[in-house]
Amino acid sequence: MSYEHVPQSSTVYTPLELASAMVSAARGRPNSLWLDPCVGDGAFVSQMAKQGVPAKQILAVDIAPHVGALDHAAQTVRGIDFLEWAVQHHSAVDHVVMNPPYAALSRVREELLERALEVRLSDGQCLPFKANYWAAFLLAAVTCVRGGGSLVAVLPAAWDFAKYASRVRETVGRAFGEVFVVRCGSPLFPKVQEGVVVIVAFNRGGTACINRRVEVPTLVETIASLEQIAQGKVPHGTSTLRAFAPPPLELQRLDALIHIGIGAVTGDAGYFLLNEAERSEWRLPQSALRPALSRSRHLTSATIGIKEWRALRDQGARVWMFRPTEAVLQHNAVKAYLKHGREGGCNVAAYWINKRDPWHRTSLPARIDGFMSGMSKRLPFLVLRKMQGLTASNTLYVIRFKKHATEAEKAKLGVLLLTSSVRAELARHARIYADGLLKFEPADLGAVRVPVVQARKDATRVLLEATALLLSGREAEASAMADEWVTSATVTTANESQVIAERSAVA
Ligand SMILES: C[S@@+](CC[C@H](N)C(=O)[O-])C[C@H]1O[C@@H](n2cnc3c(N)ncnc32)[C@H](O)[C@@H]1O
Repeated sequence: MSYEHVPQSSTVYTPLELASAMVSAARGRPNSLWLDPCVGDGAFVSQMAKQGVPAKQILAVDIAPHVGALDHAAQTVRGIDFLEWAVQHHSAVDHVVMNPPYAALSRVREELLERALEVRLSDGQCLPFKANYWAAFLLAAVTCVRGGGSLVAVLPAAWDFAKYASRVRETVGRAFGEVFVVRCGSPLFPKVQEGVVVIVAFNRGGTACINRRVEVPTLVETIASLEQIAQGKVPHGTSTLRAFAPPPLELQRLDALIHIGIGAVTGDAGYFLLNEAERSEWRLPQSALRPALSRSRHLTSATIGIKEWRALRDQGARVWMFRPTEAVLQHNAVKAYLKHGREGGCNVAAYWINKRDPWHRTSLPARIDGFMSGMSKRLPFLVLRKMQGLTASNTLYVIRFKKHATEAEKAKLGVLLLTSSVRAELARHARIYADGLLKFEPADLGAVRVPVVQARKDATRVLLEATALLLSGREAEASAMADEWVTSATVTTANESQVIAERSAVA
C-alpha cells in the first residue's frame, strides 16, 4: 500500500489525557461500535479499552503497515487507506474518535490524493485541491457514523479560518443534530505552532442544528470542557448558535404510496430460472419464458429497460423465467423441458409447485412499476421498470404505485429514497445479519417515511445520476445529490443563515 504517499510530518500523536477526555466526550453507549480511522500508536484505543470497551467493539484502521503495541486492543486493520475503507463502511459504527493526518492535499500522492478529491461536501461538490487531508478524513468519517451516533475529532485551527473549511463545517453541522467546537488557543502538538479545535458532534442525522462553541486558553481547560460535555453539560462560557432549521417537511409512509410485495415464487429457481446459454441449449422459444430479474446484483441502474436487461443476459445472468403459455405447450422443446422437469429436473413435490395447476405456471405479480432488493449489503433503492413484460423472482421485491404516477413522480420517489434522512431511517429499520447483509421485510420498508415533495421534470436525470453514484460505492455523494434536489424542490421561507446567539453562563 502506498503508505509513503502521505507525508510523515502529517502525523502527530494525541496526548493521553486529551485522548481520554475525547473518548469520554463521545458519550459511548453500551454495546456500541467504535472507530479510530487513523489509529497510529493507539492513543484513543488505549483509552477506549481503559473505559471498558472490549476489543471486538473497536475498529481501528491505519495506512502504516507496522504492527502497533495496542493493535490487539481493537479489531485493527493496517496497510489500508481509510478513505477506501470508509466507502465500504457507511453507517457502520456508533462513535468515531480521531486525530486525522494533517497535510496539504498538494503533498498527498497518487490514489490517496484521488480518493481525497472524490470526497463530497453536503452541497454535492468535491473537496478542492487546496484543501487539507484532515478535511477529507473528517468527511469520510462522518459517513461511517450511524444514525444517532457521535464523532469527536481533534483538528487544526484551520477548521476555523481556512477558506475551504467553511463548507466542511457546514457539512458536519448538517450531518449532526448538535456540534460542540472547543477551540484551544495554545499549541497542543510539538510540531504544530497554532492552537487546535476539538469538535464533538452528537446525534448523527438529527436536525436540531445546534452549534456550540467555547474558547479556552490551554490543554487543561480543553480537557475540562470535554469532561463537561462528557457529562451532558454545556461548558462554562459556551456560545450557542442555533440555526433556524428549515420547516420540517411533511412526511408520509412509503406504504401509503406504493405496494411492496415479493417477486414471483417459482418454487425451484434452479429449474425455472435460466440464463441465455441454458435457454438456447434447450432450444426453448422466447415465448416460453418471461424476462426476469432474479438477484439484487441485477439492479444495475435506476431504470431497467431492454438495454440493461440485454446487458445482463449477455453477461450470463439468469434473466429468463420458464413460464410457457398455453400456446407453446406443444412446442417440442417446451415439451422436452417439461418432461425433464417431471423426471427430476424440478422439485415438483415442493409446496409452491405442487399446489398450483398446472405445476409450471408460476403466478406472476400484477402490474410492476419497479423493483427493490430486500436483502443486500446496501440499503434499498428504487429501480424503475422500463421494459414491458419484465418480472422478478422472489429474491427481489416488486413495487406498484397505488395511484397513477407520472414518470417524474416515480423518479421522485427513487430520489427521496436516496436522501440522507430517508437512508438514516432505512438504516434504523434494517435487520442486520452476521455477514453484513441488511434485510428488510416489505412491512419494514412500508413503515419508512419519505418527505412530501413536488415532482419535477429533472427527477429522472437526478435519479439516474445519484443511483450511478450509489452503485459505484459513493453513497454519501448519492445522498448529497438527492438532498440537494429535495432542498431545491422545497420552497422554504426560513433563512438558514440567521442564527440566534445566546451565552450560557452556567455549566
Ligand atoms: C495524526 S496521527 C494520529 C495517530 C493516533 N490516532 C493519535 O491520535 O495519536 C495520524 C495517523 O493517520 C495515519 N494515516 C495517514 N494517512 C492515512 C490514510 N490514508 N488511511 C489511514 N491512516 C492514515 C498515519 O499513519 C498516522 O498514524
